Amino acid sequence: TNKIIVAIDGYSSSGKSTMARALAARIGYVYVDSGAMYRAVTLYAIRNVMVNPDHTINKERLIAALPEIRISFEAPGEDGVQHTLLNGEDVENEIHDMEVSNLVSPVAAIPEVRSRLTAMQQSFGKDKGIVMDGRDIGTTVFPNAELKIFVCASAEERARRRLKEMTEKGEKVSFDEVYKNVVERDHIDTTRAVSPLKKASDAIELDNGNMTRDEQMEWLLDKFNSKV
Ligand code: C5P
Repeated sequence: TNKIIVAIDGYSSSGKSTMARALAARIGYVYVDSGAMYRAVTLYAIRNVMVNPDHTINKERLIAALPEIRISFEAPGEDGVQHTLLNGEDVENEIHDMEVSNLVSPVAAIPEVRSRLTAMQQSFGKDKGIVMDGRDIGTTVFPNAELKIFVCASAEERARRRLKEMTEKGEKVSFDEVYKNVVERDHIDTTRAVSPLKKASDAIELDNGNMTRDEQMEWLLDKFNSKV
């Protein structure tokens, strides 16, 4: 059968990464979490003291350092989770910390960061057979993707899910803190000048607020099978 590109976009904590990863495993495709790439660049900026005291990013220094930032992925291990590597180091845990979550959207709004990561993402998809999730995959990274999904759910629902995830990992955060971060990221992601989060005109909308994981998988497989 012919391989296609599956682009899954949507709001933060909409469960799209979990869905995308499960779909890729099921159909034997490569999975790429583009958000993890923006998070890895953000972690690099934090570690290399590119965050100003007022919590803004030192853009000039980060842009100058971009050629030194290498991002790769390690195949899923026993936990089924694909690990993100920053210059060869496994940073999968660190990139989901609250500190990174709070700074990632401003980092992702920097045009030079976007053009560099977009080029990397396009190279990952050159042989197709890939599921990629993010904010601008169907609009900017792969505008010709054969299957485009746009996932939405309310901010409250998404904050609840994110809180559960973080609490399970042992992170001490409150619902208000997580909710504030979700709303703040929605705002920055939808209003930035370059590649704002937006449903592609040919994307299929999925409101997964009331769907179980099995129902979501069934829905996705149905859409996938109609394209291959
Ligand atoms: O998907 P995740 O929540 O991990 O993404 C983290 C942040 O990275 C998003 O809030 C957004 O600012 C940015 N992002 C992006 N474009 C993508 C994927 C993520 O701007 N394709």
